[in-house]
Amino acid sequence: MGWTPDFEQRAKNGDLTVGIIGLGYVGLPTAIGFHDAGFNVWGVDISERTVNMVKRGENPTGDPDVNDIIPSPDAVRWHITTSTAQAVSHCDVILVTVPTPVTEDLKPDLTYVKTAGRTIFESLERGSRTIVVLESTVYPGVTAQTWLPEVEELGLEMGVDVEIAYCPERFNPGDPAHGVRQVARVVGCSNSDIGAGLVALYSRLTTEDVRYVGKLEVAEAAKVIENVQRDINIALVNELARIFPELDVDVEDVLSAAATKWNFHRYTPGVGVGGHCIPVDPYYMMQRAADVGVPAELITAARAVNRTMPLHVAGVLNDILYEAGVPSGEAKILLLGWSYKAEVGDPRETPAEPLASALQSKNIAISAFDPHLRPEDFPAEIEVVEDIDSAEGYDLVVLVTAHQACLEIDWSGLAKRMNNPILYDGRRVLDLTKLENEGWQIHAVGRP
Ligand SMILES: NC(=O)c1ccc[n+]([C@@H]2O[C@H](COP(=O)([O-])OP(=O)(O)OC[C@H]3O[C@@H](n4cnc5c(N)ncnc54)[C@H](O)[C@@H]3O)[C@@H](O)[C@H]2O)c1
Repeated sequence: MGWTPDFEQRAKNGDLTVGIIGLGYVGLPTAIGFHDAGFNVWGVDISERTVNMVKRGENPTGDPDVNDIIPSPDAVRWHITTSTAQAVSHCDVILVTVPTPVTEDLKPDLTYVKTAGRTIFESLERGSRTIVVLESTVYPGVTAQTWLPEVEELGLEMGVDVEIAYCPERFNPGDPAHGVRQVARVVGCSNSDIGAGLVALYSRLTTEDVRYVGKLEVAEAAKVIENVQRDINIALVNELARIFPELDVDVEDVLSAAATKWNFHRYTPGVGVGGHCIPVDPYYMMQRAADVGVPAELITAARAVNRTMPLHVAGVLNDILYEAGVPSGEAKILLLGWSYKAEVGDPRETPAEPLASALQSKNIAISAFDPHLRPEDFPAEIEVVEDIDSAEGYDLVVLVTAHQACLEIDWSGLAKRMNNPILYDGRRVLDLTKLENEGWQIHAVGRP
């Protein structure tokens, strides 16, 4: 049925059918969230594996928060399919949560957004005024630039057959306090009535503020700069983590001292940033700035600092092994954690990968332990350690991901099974004094 003058009321009553295109880290919890909020839900994914798993109630993503909450296949308001065409005819609103990666040359790859839009628009019933909302992270202008030509080419009329809007997802996988039902939302749409209707809809999903912010580009830009800001903030402490050890000062001492001031924002350095957002989204903003001929120097510099952080750490680790007298051809390093962040089984854009590659290029053998990942999630060249209690013969252990399961290993037992009990805390979360007392030689990112 799509947009009707009583849309807002129908949204408030849960009397709408919501389609979700792309059942990944974002789409699946969104679909579950709308189902739990009382809506009729159609979930679509092109991956047969994903659809079959969701239909069986299994979690195809690495986000543990989705375990055990997928509606059962016989739930009457829950429909899962690989066919967008089948879903679209039932839906009043369709949310698009497909990937927005970058290409090998670090340019935005909008093919998923374009293809998903095209398939939806082709399947729309004329006159249905179905609302199609992009949730994927993009740069300002993408929704209109990518979808309007498709709409026009198919001879569809905006405001009659279809409406388009943008509402970015901001949830944090692996963080139950910031799930899809607990984050504030912003809605961008050229038609303020549709905006108000979508505010009513999303207000049923989340307990936090939902706000209509005006045109599409405002909401698109808001999302991308949220991640640009995080990249810049983290880049600053990562840069400081390179400078201060050279001054014989521990960056963590400096940051803790500075954080006593009321307006200092405390971030923690690490081996690098990863995942689908922070290392990707700034390239979207950089591309858009380049398109309009405006320099994005700060954003570009921050990206360079964070992108090269794993290489910097690899250099530091190589020096540590050299000073310990371990020839690189014989050195063995164990990485604790491989996912890009704690408590999530997601290896996308993980800094562990460039870190491992840089070390392997120096003939250092790399093993990794990550109980959140399956052996097939690791690159073939990595030796996967499944039982940390029998790991032995390493020269250096590096904490890459602060999973509880990595922090709580039997440290004194592992120290005894090492060739050289050298530890590098790549996340600044370990009690280094305690571990030193247990026999470890201690190093850490940003520590002299
Ligand atoms: N993962 C996060 O933490 C997060 C948070 C906020 C925003 N985002 C943004 O959300 C978007 C989705 O990210 P994600 O992490 O969920 O990606 P994902 O890769 O986990 O999921 C995307 C899903 O879309 C499916 N898909 C691709 N094309 C399709 C099509 N034409 N029709 C149906 N299904 C299709 C894929 O098979 C996949 O299952 C991205 O733009 C990302 O930047 C991600």
